[in-house]
Amino acid sequence: MLKGRHLIDPMDFTLEEIQEILVLSEEIILNPNDYSDICKGKILANLFYEPSTRTRFSFEAAMLRLGGQVIGFSEAISSSVSKGESIADTIRTVGCYADISAIRHPKEGSSKIASQYSSIPVINAGDGGHQHPTQTLTDLLTIKSIKGNLDNNVIGICGDLKFGRTVHSLIKSMSRYKNNKFVLISPKKLSIPDYISKEVLKKNNIEYLEIEKMDDVIKDLDILYMTRVQKERFFNEDEYLKLKDSYILNKEKMNKAKEDMIVMHPLPRVNEISYEVDEDPRACYFEQAKYGMYARMALIAKLLGVN
Ligand code: CP
Repeated sequence: MLKGRHLIDPMDFTLEEIQEILVLSEEIILNPNDYSDICKGKILANLFYEPSTRTRFSFEAAMLRLGGQVIGFSEAISSSVSKGESIADTIRTVGCYADISAIRHPKEGSSKIASQYSSIPVINAGDGGHQHPTQTLTDLLTIKSIKGNLDNNVIGICGDLKFGRTVHSLIKSMSRYKNNKFVLISPKKLSIPDYISKEVLKKNNIEYLEIEKMDDVIKDLDILYMTRVQKERFFNEDEYLKLKDSYILNKEKMNKAKEDMIVMHPLPRVNEISYEVDEDPRACYFEQAKYGMYARMALIAKLLGVN
């Protein structure tokens, strides 16, 4: 039963519950008119303490397409946070006005804290360099829809694996499906944190390889998940400048990949995928962004118990 629950970490939901959300997402894609007013009279509060394009707009579009309404802020400065209000007091107040809330925050653990004080479901829309579970629902729906299967994939994840919260959530989730293998491609300074490699991959005996060069492995991949170097998480600008262009996916590299490999990216992209790759039918990052809206429609409907 998903009604009334929070989504803070991808592991908060069982595989069966995730499947329920994916199935509903697919039904909404096929028959959007059947769902166009199921959230009539309901309000989503989008509390975005950190910039966003896809997550905020897709949550808004999702609620509007379900017939509900949206309130919120897109920068903390325009709310009483700027006067020193805590996230606990903010969410207690928001619960007086809204039925469900999505929170993006630069500090790890902030949406978890909010959920402990909240009378309404709280969805983690990205907490610092930690987790981004609704991006993962997006990614799972994309993989299921385009590749047809969430099992048996060789998944290359490339870029900033240290600070990239989408990567942490994706690895946690894809590790629960059968026979997935990971190739983790990053500079040493941006390698996957121990809590993912030790607590998720090693503990569950998941096959994985950590390497620095993409060229050596691209031919073996079923999915290539590119990420940008997360400038906003660096303390030192020089360090960011040294690492920011570590990987650039271009036509030449794509020529070495399988014909049915797909390229994903949570976006925004900076330099890590050349624009020439956008023409390649294997590039599916904008489709992925669209799947994000459907996954969030299904999630909102399930947490509100309207479907
Ligand atoms: N993928 C993602 O989280 O994008 P935004 O930062 O634009 O929301």
